Amino acid sequence: MTKKETLMRLIKGLFASNKKAMIIVLISLIFSSAGIMSISVFIQLIIDEAIMPALTQGWSTVSSTLFTILTFMIILYSVSVIGTLIYTQIMAKIGQHYLDDIRKEMFEKMESLPIGYFDQRSHGDIMSYYTNDVDTLRQFITQSLIQFAMTLLTLVFVIAVMLYYSFFLTLFVAIGAFTMFKVTAHIGGKSSASFKDQQYSIGRLEGYVEEMMYGQRVVKSFVREEHAKKDFDKENENWFEDSKRARHYGNILMPILHNIGNLMYVLLAVLGSVLIYFSVTNVGFSGIYPFSIARVGIVVSFLSLSRQFSQNIRMISQQAPMVGMALGGASRVFEFLALEEEQDTGYVKLVNCIEHDDGTIEETDKVTNEWAWRHPHSDGSVTYTKLKGDIVLENVDFEYVEGTPVLKDISIYARPGETIALVGETGAGKTTITNLINRFYEIHEGKIRYDGINIKKIRKPDLRRSLGIVLQDTNLFSGTVRDNIRYARMEASEEEVIEAAKTANAYDFIKHLPKGFDTELSANGENLSQGQRQLISIARAACANTPVLILDEATSSIDTRTEALVQKGMNQLMEGRTVFVIAHRLSTVRNSDAIMVMDHGEIIERGDHDSLIEQKGIYYQLYTGALEME
Ligand SMILES: Nc1ncnc2c1ncn2[C@@H]1O[C@H](COP(=O)(O)OP(=O)(O)OP(=O)(O)O)[C@@H](O)[C@H]1O
Ligand SMILES: [Mg+2]
Repeated sequence: MTKKETLMRLIKGLFASNKKAMIIVLISLIFSSAGIMSISVFIQLIIDEAIMPALTQGWSTVSSTLFTILTFMIILYSVSVIGTLIYTQIMAKIGQHYLDDIRKEMFEKMESLPIGYFDQRSHGDIMSYYTNDVDTLRQFITQSLIQFAMTLLTLVFVIAVMLYYSFFLTLFVAIGAFTMFKVTAHIGGKSSASFKDQQYSIGRLEGYVEEMMYGQRVVKSFVREEHAKKDFDKENENWFEDSKRARHYGNILMPILHNIGNLMYVLLAVLGSVLIYFSVTNVGFSGIYPFSIARVGIVVSFLSLSRQFSQNIRMISQQAPMVGMALGGASRVFEFLALEEEQDTGYVKLVNCIEHDDGTIEETDKVTNEWAWRHPHSDGSVTYTKLKGDIVLENVDFEYVEGTPVLKDISIYARPGETIALVGETGAGKTTITNLINRFYEIHEGKIRYDGINIKKIRKPDLRRSLGIVLQDTNLFSGTVRDNIRYARMEASEEEVIEAAKTANAYDFIKHLPKGFDTELSANGENLSQGQRQLISIARAACANTPVLILDEATSSIDTRTEALVQKGMNQLMEGRTVFVIAHRLSTVRNSDAIMVMDHGEIIERGDHDSLIEQKGIYYQLYTGALEME
């Protein structure tokens, strides 16, 4: 996104958020800047209309003119002050609302991005959109944008008045202005490029800090503090360099512009004096342009105008980097908002239903706890399929990154109520299979069917609602234990929450927490043990009460005794549901209906425990090896 596009979008956005108020702002701006620059006009009026005539005709003849001029001056100044008050107030309010909307939009965007986006970026980098970029945007809208507009407007007024007074002298100032613009454009362009670099490097810096914060335990236990500090210094240095470069250009620009302005002032004074001198002394030039129009008031006023002119140009070049920075931040925000959202072309929905005795299915608005897939067809007809939890993967191929296949020709048939175990070495692709079933990622080749329907046709929220998941990394949210358990189904009753906790065998430990189900968890449940966190996440899946369950290594960090408890709970949880269970402990998978042994993205053996043992293949080796280790 270019600077211009960003600015246009920003201004359009501001106008869209409140058109009337923005127009008032614009009008107040005009009055305010007119007031500020009017001083030069009053100087001219006072000199040429009052002082000069007074010198020849006496003060009494000009007293009424002087009075009128002064009255106008007071009125214009008052209006200007009021204008300033109005636009600062309104802009602050508009800015706040606009940013409020932007933040909301950003969060909504984040919630609609595919998982793949988060897998590729550091959290701090994403956080930086909300903190730095939105903050520069806030500063820009409430301060720089308005100052910038004000400066530009004043400049327009100054030029208009100069042209009105003397085209010749304006031409002279224009030469100075041209030099100033050239210098500013050259140096300013470089500086705003560095400002964008700076925004990116602070994003990286924050990402690093956040990562280190989460990883403190690891950092400390491997005594990497010094390295962490060094790496931090490097990132910090990068940022420092980028911001130094950005500021450096600003710093050399100011003195240069200042001197050009001063030079222009002096030359103008000399030129003005010469014009006046030749226009009043009778040496023959007095009738010729520009000598003919030279007047003391105009020349003095021009001096003041050229001051204002160079001052405003200086202000623009001072504000330009800020504007550049803000536009850098804004374009990052807009780019974020323009990211491609998770696509969903699904049209098959999950609905509550009643199953009649003759097997027909009727859709209903009532909560029946019986579900059916509502499948509209192109001919306008609608069919219903009972939600049973029948999941079939047919010849599925998948790769995260093009060229490195992760799954090859995977076929799995999970009938309703069956438990399918996925075992295999780390990195074999077990978690990946679950990522495909809930469509965190889309498959490239092959098909996945859910109750006979291609899952690409199922709306993602409905698909995911029908899957209970216990992820490999437990993730709890700040809030009470109860809230965490009913996360998937906020309408679950107290009994259902307790029932879910009992099913997951989490009830006993929850009861012993200081406030039971009302105990507040810190972010990600850091105030619980790892095993307890897992039990809660199992209870959460139990509470979701779905026909299909995906359990990824749910028992890995639980001691043997607790594991037995969890196993019991899981068996209860798994009853009557289709379950995909991923476990390194073979004792967990022994009772499964089918076991898939995976290796480098392929299923190399399949069958139940006994038949696999009989085969004396990899599973046999894994199993007996595991037994020996135990
Ligand atoms: N988001 C991702 N982007 C790119 N590659 C990935 C991503 N997630 C996993 N992979 C790669 O895909 C392969 C399979 O990973 P997967 O997480 O499915 O393994 P797994 O069988 O669940 O292993 P584990 O037992 O350690 O959990 C690995 O080689 C991994 O490097
Ligand atoms: Mg895994």
